[in-house]
Amino acid sequence: MYVKAKAKGSEELGIHSEVVQLPADTTEDQLLKEVAKLNNRADVHGILVQQPLPAQIRTEKAVAAVSPLKDVDCFHPVNVGLLLIGTPRFVPATPAGVQELLLRSGNDPAGKRVTILGRSNIVGKPLAALLVQKGRGGNATVTVAHSATKDIAAVLRTGEIIVVAIGQPRFVKADMVRKGAVVIDVGINRVPDSATKSGTRLVGDVDFDAVKEVAAAITPVPGGVGPMTIAMLLTNTIRAAEAVGG
Ligand code: GUN
Repeated sequence: MYVKAKAKGSEELGIHSEVVQLPADTTEDQLLKEVAKLNNRADVHGILVQQPLPAQIRTEKAVAAVSPLKDVDCFHPVNVGLLLIGTPRFVPATPAGVQELLLRSGNDPAGKRVTILGRSNIVGKPLAALLVQKGRGGNATVTVAHSATKDIAAVLRTGEIIVVAIGQPRFVKADMVRKGAVVIDVGINRVPDSATKSGTRLVGDVDFDAVKEVAAAITPVPGGVGPMTIAMLLTNTIRAAEAVGG
């Protein structure tokens, strides 16, 4: 679903995109060679290795193999470091999308208590880095809660803004959210639903119907954070092309 959305978004903007689909039993070495080929192509400005990867491939090897100048996901250790010290080359797409959603909906995180649930390298950790920076979209007081946090509900209730990215369907219930909080749901989970033709449907990490009654604002799934992620990824791709005069 992500890959399709990225290809469609590229096409809409007039960005050429290619999907290199490899078999599930591809070795780490084979993957790194594919990445190296793309690194060496002057007509390719942005590369991303879609996650999650099969068990035989070390994610850290795959992300470090992408040229930092073409790393439109902002997963390469150098780009993660640049983000952390406040001089970003790229901004990771999902965190950037969350930040932009907050700003454009009139919920500037500056001075607010933001609780992030989830500590992944894709969302939780880079989002925390982004929201504590000085400057536009930053200046928040950030708490990161995770699977080892004691009394997650109590910690979540401290958040004036809550961002949830744990990949567990409808985990956040109404009693975990303070009245008037702004809730951003990054999760996207496929669950069985006999009422649909396909027999499944997509839900977030937040119990939307219950939490919308206490939240001041809440993002839907699908149609909330996902499209913002795609927009930010394409922004990074244009930035990458412009940086080399493309
Ligand atoms: N898997 C889930 N989100 C992402 C993303 O933003 N980029 C990549 N490469 N993989 C993902």
